[in-house]
Amino acid sequence: MNIEETGELMLDFDKIDNIPDHSGVIPVAVQDINTKEILLIAYTDRTALEESIKQRKVILRSTSRNKLWFKGAESGNTFTLHRIFVNCEQNSLVFLASPDKGGMCHTKGENGYRTGCYYRELDMDTMKLKDINAPEKKEDLSVFRCRLVNTSDESYDIMIGNGLYSALTADLKNGIAGKVSRYVIVTDSNVRPLYADRIYSEMTEAGLRTDIIEFEAGEKSKTRAVKEYVEDRMLEMGCKRDCCVIAVGGGVVSDLAGFTAGTFGRGVPFINYTTTLLAAADASIGGKTAVDTPLATNLIGLFNQPKKVYIDLDAWKTLPRRELVSGLAETIKHGCLGDRELFEYLEKNISRVFDCDSEVCRYISEHNCMVKYRVVMKDARESGLREILNLGHTVGRAAETLSDYRLTHGEAVSIGLCAEVLLGEKYGYIGSENAQRVISLCEKAGLPVKLPEYMDADELVRKLYTDKKVRNGRLRFVFQKEIGEMVCFGDNNYGKEVPEDEIAEILRSMK
Ligand SMILES: NC(=O)c1ccc[n+]([C@@H]2O[C@H](COP(=O)([O-])OP(=O)(O)OC[C@H]3O[C@@H](n4cnc5c(N)ncnc54)[C@H](O)[C@@H]3O)[C@@H](O)[C@H]2O)c1
Ligand SMILES: [Zn+2]
Repeated sequence: MNIEETGELMLDFDKIDNIPDHSGVIPVAVQDINTKEILLIAYTDRTALEESIKQRKVILRSTSRNKLWFKGAESGNTFTLHRIFVNCEQNSLVFLASPDKGGMCHTKGENGYRTGCYYRELDMDTMKLKDINAPEKKEDLSVFRCRLVNTSDESYDIMIGNGLYSALTADLKNGIAGKVSRYVIVTDSNVRPLYADRIYSEMTEAGLRTDIIEFEAGEKSKTRAVKEYVEDRMLEMGCKRDCCVIAVGGGVVSDLAGFTAGTFGRGVPFINYTTTLLAAADASIGGKTAVDTPLATNLIGLFNQPKKVYIDLDAWKTLPRRELVSGLAETIKHGCLGDRELFEYLEKNISRVFDCDSEVCRYISEHNCMVKYRVVMKDARESGLREILNLGHTVGRAAETLSDYRLTHGEAVSIGLCAEVLLGEKYGYIGSENAQRVISLCEKAGLPVKLPEYMDADELVRKLYTDKKVRNGRLRFVFQKEIGEMVCFGDNNYGKEVPEDEIAEILRSMK
């Protein structure tokens, strides 16, 4: 990079007053990109200018010489450089920049910027100059840019094992939740006597100040009203920002407790002790928390990462078979969308899950985490790739709501998976043999592969439109490519719009 090459930057420093000892320096004005206010007038030498352009940063340095020019601006301030203008009348440069620290520098320029000057813009990449209009000066509008680049590390561990109460207590004693002085276990009426009371005792015995809040088990509790109940209980207990919420239970508990933790006192730490296969498979990665509304599930919530997740495989032993089966649907989904090995392992070993065989349960937990992690890591805010996790969920979520929760989440997802492979088969994304393998695996797991008696296919089609993934009133689906991969429709786009009658036809065939 050599700015002399342009031949345009012959600056006549003599035209600028009040620059002591100006030889070899280029006067610059740093102007706020938003307010157009001159933040400071300084000078730079050619090397510093080149460095600024390269790094796109203006760095304010304090030497005795330029103090005069910084007038109150703090030394060490940096500005992100957006554009450079050459003020041809004054032979100076104007850096259009934004303050990095969010602080304001109030140094007004005596020289640098006057309206009506003749400007040229220096392209920072090509170093070519071109004529432009003078940057507009905004007189009555002041914009303060709050620069917030998120660089916080939200990493956490997922511990998979049998009976992890003591591990949890030890972690808490070691400060896993950060600076907190009390804990609130949030659990449901089924899980409390089985696991939460025991965790409560261990924690209390270990000297940790702990309270427990229970709500009635079931998806019907995953509401704003129950969230409010938990919050009110926490307030009654005198909880402030010094508390940590520990969810002990399945996906309902972790969704509700995680959401509550994310908003209580503008956010307190949250730990997730999962007791269901479904929560282990799906709710333990991604940081999604939410409650349901009468219109659809999971509509209100936030992304809130836990401090740690515990997957207690022992807890699966008391899970009603139907719940275990429900969790298998997400596991099958993970095999379908990104882990052929997992899919084939399930084909061979799925019955051993029902014996709570430790080796099998650990294998599927690890693989579930890996698949979901891979997808979520690549796309933290659900713009493209993450959409593939919706495999089976467009129909699934609608069926779950329409059944009024008579179908479990996993059962509904199974119906969705089957519908989507049948549709995918029609479009040629999956061969009929593989489509059949998916349906057979769901069946082998004890999951429904047809619509329940009471469910009307056309009503289900109408319900599809409340899905969060519907765009502009059009139905969108993701499709698996054979087994273990997804169809990508180009440019990080995995969703395909599907005409209503085509999905309707599939759903009618599933009666
Ligand atoms: N946040 C996410 O990323 C995410 C992902 C998937 C699903 N979810 C949500 O998770 C929920 C479904 O999860 P779930 O199936 O775990 O629901 P759940 O929490 O309601 O648990 C299912 C049932 O099993 C009981 N139970 C839980 N653990 C038990 C145990 N060890 N022994 C005996 N009974 C036990 C519960 O009391 C409940 O009756 C849905 O609300 C879904 O939206 C969230
Ligand atoms: Zn799901």
